[in-house]
Amino acid sequence: MNILVTGFTGKVGLQVANYLKDQDIPIVCAVRDVEKTKAKFGDAYEYVNLNFSDSSTFDGALENVDRVFLMYPPGEKLQFDTFLKKAKDKEIKHITYLSLKDVQYMPFIHHYKMEKLIKNSQIPYTFVRAGYFMQNLNDFLCKEIKERQRIFVPAGKGKTSFVDTRDLAEISGVSLVNKDKHKNKIYVITGNEALNFFDVAKQMTEVLGVKIEYTNPSVKEFKNYMRKIGEDEGFVNVVVGIHIPTKLGLAKGVKHDYEKLTGKKPTNIKNYIKDYKKNWI
Ligand SMILES: NC(=O)c1ccc[n+]([C@@H]2O[C@H](COP(=O)([O-])OP(=O)(O)OC[C@H]3O[C@@H](n4cnc5c(N)ncnc54)[C@H](OP(=O)(O)O)[C@@H]3O)[C@@H](O)[C@H]2O)c1
Repeated sequence: MNILVTGFTGKVGLQVANYLKDQDIPIVCAVRDVEKTKAKFGDAYEYVNLNFSDSSTFDGALENVDRVFLMYPPGEKLQFDTFLKKAKDKEIKHITYLSLKDVQYMPFIHHYKMEKLIKNSQIPYTFVRAGYFMQNLNDFLCKEIKERQRIFVPAGKGKTSFVDTRDLAEISGVSLVNKDKHKNKIYVITGNEALNFFDVAKQMTEVLGVKIEYTNPSVKEFKNYMRKIGEDEGFVNVVVGIHIPTKLGLAKGVKHDYEKLTGKKPTNIKNYIKDYKKNWI
């Protein structure tokens, strides 16, 4: 067994790589810039060049692996149809795809199309349909928390089903290692409770010992501020888009697939904040 881990430098891929490495499972980490990644993450991982917008990288990335952890990155001209054809030709035995909770109701988003493409490729799969990542708080929400002690995101009072990417990585890893058991299965992975951002700010305040506020900006306020500080328009629209279902009260569903599969409770937000504390102070 040898597993290609895509999105290695991202919030989920790195955790998948670490989970598999801890189990001594052979992995190859797919990255766009091998030298840059080596400089940041060192030689403990094996790297291969893969850019989903450049099909000339596909053969090399799929060489000597038989399973793939697949994620869909931001970007343009992504050639997943070609990638999946190559994967089939190379006799890839299983793909675990990082998808999105409630994707079945969203035919307009790329994950819906991706799940169809993967099914049509006839490669056995597991779809890990994820709730809202806790790790967004130490990623694109981090700067405002750290510098202005506020969670600045247009999510209204709506609740969302926060999930720790380490839990997503564990389910992804398990499905890749025990591929036959998880063949053509769909798992919805969330934490145990839906929270709004007022709840999260309260928990952060308690753990960090610093008052963190959720300022609940309107979409207009959010966009104006982001433009003012020079954020990319495309990125701002993606952030707004991610939070619309929450604002509309559509993101609060909680599922218990993590507990059913592992026999453990998923990570709660307090433990996540404790583990990542150094990111915000
Ligand atoms: N955020 C959420 O709450 C949430 C919830 C459910 C599902 N999701 C889904 O999760 C996925 C994002 O996962 P993530 O948050 O782990 O990623 P991420 O932290 O946003 O990182 C993006 C990763 O994609 C890689 N990448 C960018 N462009 C690429 C390309 N053209 N070819 C190959 N790799 C490329 C980046 O590598 P480089 O080092 O090369 O830049 C990086 O490793 C998305 O599909 C999103 O819809 C997100």
